[in-house]
Amino acid sequence: MELSRVKLVKGQIRVPSDKSISHRAVILGAIAEGKTYVEDWLVSADTLATLRVIRSLGVKVVRKGTNLVIEGTDYTFREPQDVLNCANSGTTARLMLGVLSTQPFFSVLTGDRSLRNRPMLRVVEPLRQMGASLDGRHHADKLPICVRGGSLKGISFFNKRASAQVKSSLLLAGLRAEGYTEISEPYSSRDHTERMLKAFGVNLYKMEGKDGHIVKMEGFQKLYGTKVVCPADPSSAAFFCALALLVEGSELILKDVLVNPTRDGFYRKVRQMGGHVEYTNLRELGGEPVADVVVRGGNRLKSVEVKPEEVPSLIDELPILAVLMAFAEGTSVVRGAQELRVKESDRIKAIVENLRAMGAKVEELEDGFIIEGSMSLKGATIKTYGDHRIAMAFSVAGLVAQGKTYIDDPNCVKVSYPNFYKDLFSVVQT
Ligand code: S3P
Repeated sequence: MELSRVKLVKGQIRVPSDKSISHRAVILGAIAEGKTYVEDWLVSADTLATLRVIRSLGVKVVRKGTNLVIEGTDYTFREPQDVLNCANSGTTARLMLGVLSTQPFFSVLTGDRSLRNRPMLRVVEPLRQMGASLDGRHHADKLPICVRGGSLKGISFFNKRASAQVKSSLLLAGLRAEGYTEISEPYSSRDHTERMLKAFGVNLYKMEGKDGHIVKMEGFQKLYGTKVVCPADPSSAAFFCALALLVEGSELILKDVLVNPTRDGFYRKVRQMGGHVEYTNLRELGGEPVADVVVRGGNRLKSVEVKPEEVPSLIDELPILAVLMAFAEGTSVVRGAQELRVKESDRIKAIVENLRAMGAKVEELEDGFIIEGSMSLKGATIKTYGDHRIAMAFSVAGLVAQGKTYIDDPNCVKVSYPNFYKDLFSVVQT
């Protein structure tokens, strides 16, 4: 894919639906009693992996485009006849390890080369404490992992990385555990599982304690099938927002964007940098706050700092935020983002390497990076490492850089946004 500088970004776009919410809608629909209707579901490689895994467990799901009808099983699945492949999706693997830990049968989860290298012990250890039996490569830190579950008991767990995947996995296991499951975290991670569990009729409590944010839930509560409408993904919308900010005279409206405070850190940061980003038509959709985001380009951006406690609310947006930092006036710093090293690629390395290739001055830190902003980048060949968010962030950089940019593997965007390039080219003028 070859990209060059654009003149203007104009129009209105509704990016595809939120990936985190789309995964959860399928999983909760499958463990509920009765039918669940999902509207505006994200059709992408990651969410299709969740759908495939759920179907392999005997769940009937009819999909017509972006609409799903799921026949709930009241948390009674069938033993799968083959290995369950989560492809590139960490959310599928970690959440399903929690789900499978409740089932008294044998199952094996695996994934593609990237996913097989990502750490799983963060969910395996607490699930073992709850009573599930899990084993796999590297002492069960790496997929393939086999699970034999059932007879769980609730635990109190400190989620030190503030990972929503860990929290969600334990809540899904806790739904079939004796007593209470309690998870505390130093900073609030995305709370879609909690919000959606409430919509399915589950009681859970949120508290503040000495260890930070706590969520507590009693086991053996029934979920009742419901309707879930998925809003647009703020992580996908962030690429469009950044592009419009970087091109003078641009105006873009991003429709129906999820603006949950555990997810909209990027938009808050960009405002802090002096970017024009406005939430209009703020409303609620299925228990989640949603807005139309109006972006105007051309404001001079100022450098900014991202602190460890801010990281969970913008973790997936750090690649595109780094691109904005490269265009800001002054030195920007990101700390406490070591989790970036174990995402779909080592994103710290990928950000630093690609920004340097485009001429930026960047210092690599173990847990982040320091970027000396300047007003321009030059075209380069981008190594995506097969990582969708690296591909999309540096495609935006390529549309504002001087000269030509080549993306080595544009196809990897299919993981979260199959029509990314089509949508991107529909709002730019060259
Ligand atoms: C996700 C949680 C985050 C995020 C990932 C999706 C989720 O990961 O980076 O893209 O849907 O729960 P962690 O929970 O590992 O922080």
